[in-house]
Amino acid sequence: MNAPALEVHLDDDDLDRTLRSDVLTGLTADRKWLPPKWFYDARGSELFEQITELDEYYPSRTERQILTDRAGDIARHTRARTLIELGSGYSTKTRLLLDALTAQRTLEAFVPMDVSPTALTAAATRITADYPGLRVHNIVGDLTRHLKHLPDGGSRTIAFLGGTIGNLVPAERAAFLADVRSVLEAGEHLLVGTDLVKSPRVVVPAYDDADGVTADFNRNVLRVLNRSLGADFDLDGFAHVALWDADQEWVEMRLRARWPMRVHVRALDLVVDFAAGEEVRTEVSAKFRREGFERELAEAGFALDRWWTDKDGLFAVSLARAVPAS
Ligand code: AVJ
Repeated sequence: MNAPALEVHLDDDDLDRTLRSDVLTGLTADRKWLPPKWFYDARGSELFEQITELDEYYPSRTERQILTDRAGDIARHTRARTLIELGSGYSTKTRLLLDALTAQRTLEAFVPMDVSPTALTAAATRITADYPGLRVHNIVGDLTRHLKHLPDGGSRTIAFLGGTIGNLVPAERAAFLADVRSVLEAGEHLLVGTDLVKSPRVVVPAYDDADGVTADFNRNVLRVLNRSLGADFDLDGFAHVALWDADQEWVEMRLRARWPMRVHVRALDLVVDFAAGEEVRTEVSAKFRREGFERELAEAGFALDRWWTDKDGLFAVSLARAVPAS
């Protein structure tokens, strides 16, 4: 049997360099911050899986429902021969798309791209077994740097699900969408999941659940720094904070120092002081409106062909088409 191909653009050294530079930039900034991608070591990925099953966390099950209802429409509209999935992780929702696209007999290749080779390999082995005849080509890469390595040509659909686009701040998002457009040819498609603006009474609990799973997930970034960079963060010294920013229309997760602390990051020869109450921003998760997202897509060279939401208007799946450059 054919083993799925694994193409690596991001090795451990590369990851380590990026982590060091991110941590140095973020922890020496006036207002401290850390990029959300460092949550996802094995434990962080496991905690995220637990989050997706919480009552309070509506995005995953809602997106899954929309995809269940619309997979046939997506297949008919795109007639994709290649499905590329960014940040695919364990590729669970992707199966809905793979089922619809293989039923229609257009699909030839599946190309998942993720920073985690472990998640990719595990998913690819199962997908190869379940979809005989499908070419599976794994790419280990970072979606902000390695899109240029995506295979080219002909009826491709790039899927970016889960609302992960909301973890990019507006400038990063614009750069990302422009990048995606630049690797596509006119007429090819982008399928994106976005969480929608709604009452903070619904949004905030999704990021601050009663069981404290999200709090544990948030603090996991400190565990990652302790292990990978020899830091000495005391996790008990940091409180989980989730708050709604009504101007930006995003949720922010932060870690708030409960008392003054001096932290050493050995691998960087760095000493970081925290005042009591000082916060580190660890994630933004933007919530969208149709008009705003349609405008962002248009600015990047995409036309919004379809916009699907659940009956409560919690979450949206957009199907956009690359338009000829003007
Ligand atoms: C699904 C990765 C986009 O922003 O909702 C879950 C990550 N952060 N709980 C999101 C997350 C806190 C998540 N993404």
